[in-house]
Amino acid sequence: MSSDCKGSSNDPPPKKDKPKCESTRHEPTKENKPCKETKPKSKKSSEPTQSSQHSPDSLGKTERQTLQNFHEDCIDKINTQINDEIRSAYTYISMASFCTQDNVALFGFAKFFTHSYKEEIEHMEHLIAYLNKRGGQLRLTSIEAPSKQEWNTVEDLLTEALHMEKQLNEKLLKLHACASQHGDANLTDFLEGRYLQEQVDAIKTLADLLTTVRRTQLYLVDRDLMSGKFSMHGNDNGE
Ligand SMILES: [Fe+2]
Repeated sequence: MSSDCKGSSNDPPPKKDKPKCESTRHEPTKENKPCKETKPKSKKSSEPTQSSQHSPDSLGKTERQTLQNFHEDCIDKINTQINDEIRSAYTYISMASFCTQDNVALFGFAKFFTHSYKEEIEHMEHLIAYLNKRGGQLRLTSIEAPSKQEWNTVEDLLTEALHMEKQLNEKLLKLHACASQHGDANLTDFLEGRYLQEQVDAIKTLADLLTTVRRTQLYLVDRDLMSGKFSMHGNDNGE
């Protein structure tokens, strides 16, 4: 048997597996399988770069491949914006909860603020997805509690919401200016298409609501809110 493979009687007796491999080189049949399987195994162990790519220790430590024309200032500002969106979500959920208290019972307002809360969470999620897509790093920080969690009047409540949306808009405009300054057309396009118009719509809706509350009976406004008359995405007149 050994003379078939090596042709020398002085050679040490071959291991049981060896003739199998040697012989399969001349027979390209299903017998090739064991040799082919053993080859990649030895190759894998001799290529540390390939194995380190799959090592859990290297996760997230390699270069970001999508990173291109994404300035660190813009990444910082997006991270700040993410925190601001979560903070405004906090405030809106606090407002919604306040409106559902039995001694407040403004369920239309509660519905409106719960919807606003969900929108802020969506804004945060889209910013995180965008940051990741561009090769930026998410850096979450502590979320500050809302400055107020009880209000004396609905006017106070709406005034605070309006102020908060204006602040969000101001920061988005600064982020847009940062993107322009660094020639980041993709970021300016993203902000223009998704965020800036929504902010203007939200500000208009809250301002309209505030005016309506000032001149109408509260329960009528609450009923309108329950039926979805006021929306952060614009009003019935298509604005
Ligand atoms: Fe937002």
